[in-house]
Amino acid sequence: MAQQQTGRLHNKVAIVTGASSGIGRATAKLFAAEGAKVVVGARRETELTSLVDEIKANGGTAVALAGDVRSEAYAQALVALAVKTFGRLDIAFNNAGTLGEGGPSTSVSEAGWNDAIAINLTGSFLGAKHQIAEMVKHGGGSVIFTSTFVGHTSSFPGVAAYAASKSGLIGLTQTLAAEFGPQNIRVNAILPGAVDTDMYREMNNTPDKTAFITNLHALKRVGRPEEVARSVLYLASDDSAFVTGTASLIDGGLSITRT
Ligand SMILES: NC(=O)c1ccc[n+]([C@@H]2O[C@H](COP(=O)([O-])OP(=O)(O)OC[C@H]3O[C@@H](n4cnc5c(N)ncnc54)[C@H](OP(=O)(O)O)[C@@H]3O)[C@@H](O)[C@H]2O)c1
Repeated sequence: MAQQQTGRLHNKVAIVTGASSGIGRATAKLFAAEGAKVVVGARRETELTSLVDEIKANGGTAVALAGDVRSEAYAQALVALAVKTFGRLDIAFNNAGTLGEGGPSTSVSEAGWNDAIAINLTGSFLGAKHQIAEMVKHGGGSVIFTSTFVGHTSSFPGVAAYAASKSGLIGLTQTLAAEFGPQNIRVNAILPGAVDTDMYREMNNTPDKTAFITNLHALKRVGRPEEVARSVLYLASDDSAFVTGTASLIDGGLSITRT
């Protein structure tokens, strides 16, 4: 798909974290196809390089910086790269995440708990902190966090750190939206249902588990990364100009299904 000169993100500059695979990778490609100049981040450099090559081969514009979202210096460096390369920042999709240490909550280690919080919650906060500071200089922007249904619309045994860190993002979303709304910064969270990615396959690795999780959805299937990307595009673009502070369900009807 060639880059569109009239795409929905034409002339916008975006950061996407967790872009080396899954939802982040699909979203970075869609943003670029819609005309955004994209800065992609994650730890795996080889995957980021192949993503940038793919975007460029399709007529888009992207640069990569590998790093760990637990580091505030990395959050600053992603914003600095966007400004140095493309002159501004309009959109940030803080999507990097981990399942973290699972299992019975009485056995979760302090280090495992802290790691999930550091990546899923603190990493997203540090990103937003530096992204918003840049966005206000140019009259506004859109920040999107990847939360989840887990721990918000339903939950399971053995995912305490994941659920707590991800539902913390909803409070963060509401607070940042209230704080920076007057400066035209919109902040929203997406709550995907199960989506067929590496993370999903790591957790749902038997036919029984796959059948269980699939049946939780009203649509009786799990989502695809490209489907989630389209909802992120909506929140990133001016199509959602009056939408802020939301926890947006993209869950195939999981939250309303009891059968
Ligand atoms: N798949 C689902 O069913 C589902 C449902 C709801 C929410 N989510 C959320 O969706 C987001 C994307 O996950 P996914 O499903 O697309 O799985 P995925 O393919 O495993 O993607 C996870 C991404 O996060 C990055 N990441 C993890 N830890 C990082 C760290 N410390 N620093 C920088 N990047 C890091 C990974 O890159 P590197 O390994 O290269 O660093 C990878 O790009 C996550 O936040 C996840 O919690 C997923």
